[in-house]
Amino acid sequence: MVAQPDRVMIFDTTLRDGEQSPGCSMTRPEKLRVARALAELGVDVIEAGFPAASKGDFDSVSAVAREVHGPIICGLARCNAGDIELAAKAVAAAERRRVHVFLATSAIHRQYKLNMAQDEILRLAAEGVARARALCEDVEFSPEDASRTEIEFLAQVVEVAIAAGATTVNIPDTVGYTVPDEFAELFRYLRKNVRGIDNVRLSVHCHDDLGMAVANSLTAVVAGARQIECTINGIGERAGNCSLEEVVMALKTRAAFFNLATNINTQRLYPTSRLLSSITGMPIARNKAVVGENAFAHESGIHQHGMLKHHSTYEIMRPEDVGLQRSHLVLGKHSGRHAFRDRVQALGFELDEADLNRAFEEFKALADKKKELFDGDIEAIVLSAEGSAAGPWHLKSLAVEAGSAGPARATVQLEHSDGRSTEHSASGDGPVDAAFKAIEAASGIRVALRKFEVHSVSEGEDAQGEARIYVEYNQRTYRGASVSTNIVESATRAFLEVINRIEQAQAGARSREERIAATPA
Ligand code: KIV
Ligand code: ZN
Repeated sequence: MVAQPDRVMIFDTTLRDGEQSPGCSMTRPEKLRVARALAELGVDVIEAGFPAASKGDFDSVSAVAREVHGPIICGLARCNAGDIELAAKAVAAAERRRVHVFLATSAIHRQYKLNMAQDEILRLAAEGVARARALCEDVEFSPEDASRTEIEFLAQVVEVAIAAGATTVNIPDTVGYTVPDEFAELFRYLRKNVRGIDNVRLSVHCHDDLGMAVANSLTAVVAGARQIECTINGIGERAGNCSLEEVVMALKTRAAFFNLATNINTQRLYPTSRLLSSITGMPIARNKAVVGENAFAHESGIHQHGMLKHHSTYEIMRPEDVGLQRSHLVLGKHSGRHAFRDRVQALGFELDEADLNRAFEEFKALADKKKELFDGDIEAIVLSAEGSAAGPWHLKSLAVEAGSAGPARATVQLEHSDGRSTEHSASGDGPVDAAFKAIEAASGIRVALRKFEVHSVSEGEDAQGEARIYVEYNQRTYRGASVSTNIVESATRAFLEVINRIEQAQAGARSREERIAATPA
């Protein structure tokens, strides 16, 4: 008889380790949308941020703790009193909360980063965990750079953390350096040599610098870890973190080998992955395992022939198991609200009535311009319906004159939510450049364009083009995205979204300053 599978907890750190990687920063409403999607996906823990990093981070973690129900909400803290108190405070409103304390332990970090001896690390770890435990029942401890720490010293640190009250001990491969056999050995060593280790949950946290984050996480669970830390689409520092969708589908697809179960509703994987990509603007590689565009595509004749005989010849997972319900059903201007809603649901999106109505209006407008609407079009409508930074500027009209000779000219009419209305024209090297310059003149915000890309979201001559723009302004990167059948219009709207994000950030900073000034000392 096969034993009942053991449960592995899925600890999602998309909003913390993922969000701190370049190009992945999110606003508070965006973090809330991702956190709600993670709760729906069925993750056990959401690491919502690093409250001591900034006031914005503290506020985002507090908002997730207040508003997202189901998973444990966790805040990260360095091993010092200030950080730990802020983390505990930020997660206080959650139904279930955790404080995650970390302290580097490897010789390299002790010498170059902390300038601390081993004794000092042991003392700080014990004090930090005890302090966190006094404020929160559920405390996780991570010896940062564990995989490069002297193994006997690592065992000592883990032991003092457990003695001080840690309920989960996480072993990070912070720099993505370890390899599967070595890492499994490390877990076995700790389980054999650390007093009290059977009373805590062992966790694994891997980075992908050598492309082994998923393999190293899987080997750790074989060696006894019962929590995996991971991120949607594997976003994270440098090459990223262990990818949630890959590690979960490996456990599910190879259940007979692992005999381990997670709480993840795998049909939510694809929509959650798309949502994150649309919010962060971080594209998913076509050949990305599980959620990439080609993950279930069969091109070669031999493979297609096999697939026609039986899908199991070349398919180890069914696309519908990860929520990829693609169909060749095409919608058009005669499709009704019912058909639209069915397609939206089949693609994995749950919209409330107001969002569905808004998306349906956009669908109708698009169907007037475009004969056939494919799944990519529907996804773009749904994601942009709630995704873009709404205002303060709105595009009332755009006119361009462009040809092969001479500069192009663009005229934009913008309206601001404070009632201002403005019209500006500019010349540029092509219609897109001219439109960007006209918007800069109208809004009074000048940016440095860093990246501009356009790709098609569906098929056919009248396919929609999605424009993505990254700019630098006051040493920060801002991004915008928009979709239209007219690529000059999508580029212009994407640029306007960038300007809106900058204005929103400026308004947020102003209101924070005002709040601080109004707070009694
Ligand atoms: O990679 C790492 O070591 C971390 C810790 C804070 C867990 O992210
Ligand atoms: Zn990490």
